[in-house]
Amino acid sequence: MQHPPPNPRPPTVIAVDGPAASGKGTLARAMAAHFGFDYLDTGLLYRAVAYFGEVTPPVDAAAELAAATLARVTKLAASLDPQRLNDPHLKSEKIAAAASYIATFPALRAALRAYQVNFAQTPPGGLGAVLDGRDIGSVICPDAKVKFFITAAVEVRAKRRFLELYGQGHKVVYAAILHDLIARDRQDSGRQTAPLTEAKDAIRLDTSTLSLEDARDFVLAKAQVQLS
Ligand code: C5P
Repeated sequence: MQHPPPNPRPPTVIAVDGPAASGKGTLARAMAAHFGFDYLDTGLLYRAVAYFGEVTPPVDAAAELAAATLARVTKLAASLDPQRLNDPHLKSEKIAAAASYIATFPALRAALRAYQVNFAQTPPGGLGAVLDGRDIGSVICPDAKVKFFITAAVEVRAKRRFLELYGQGHKVVYAAILHDLIARDRQDSGRQTAPLTEAKDAIRLDTSTLSLEDARDFVLAKAQVQLS
């Protein structure tokens, strides 16, 4: 008698959400390295669509995107080449603002959903996936085994982003970065579709006064407990 093959274990998913520059990317990467999981920075998907789709946010943030532009960028999102996520141009604050703008459109979010769900379900290494973003625990991977919500005071986040960009040799002004982060927080938390939300079952960590080492120890210990 033939037995069906045993069900392979589905990959483990860790969801990490939070506002920009909260430290979520660094902590997500640390968890992926520690547990041998694959990592996806989902913000890069929105940034890539904004950059390669040549989207400029309108002065009036409430203005609609032209239907033809939305159709074009949605098509781009549905067939995004992972190689494009490595483009250094994606890192700028200008592209972040454009990404936050296009992220308000439900059709665009739907087009990027498949990429993220596919990564979570079939990560390249097969063991598990860590995804960071704004709606991972609430919309993309609501059944994730572990969920984190990483936050920090906006002034602390602006200072971190300033030092990061300054360290990379960019000409940056702290007040401008603070202004941009406040605007992006407002847009990401206020949009109707998949706003930045803290999932009910997420572990919350405020990194405002924590060293990177302490924040990393905290998430690794929490994740370890939930995964065992
Ligand atoms: O994470 P990052 O700051 O690179 O994301 C850029 C923008 O992409 C965010 O401000 C947000 O509007 C959007 N985003 C999103 N959902 C995600 C990841 C990013 O809406 N899961």
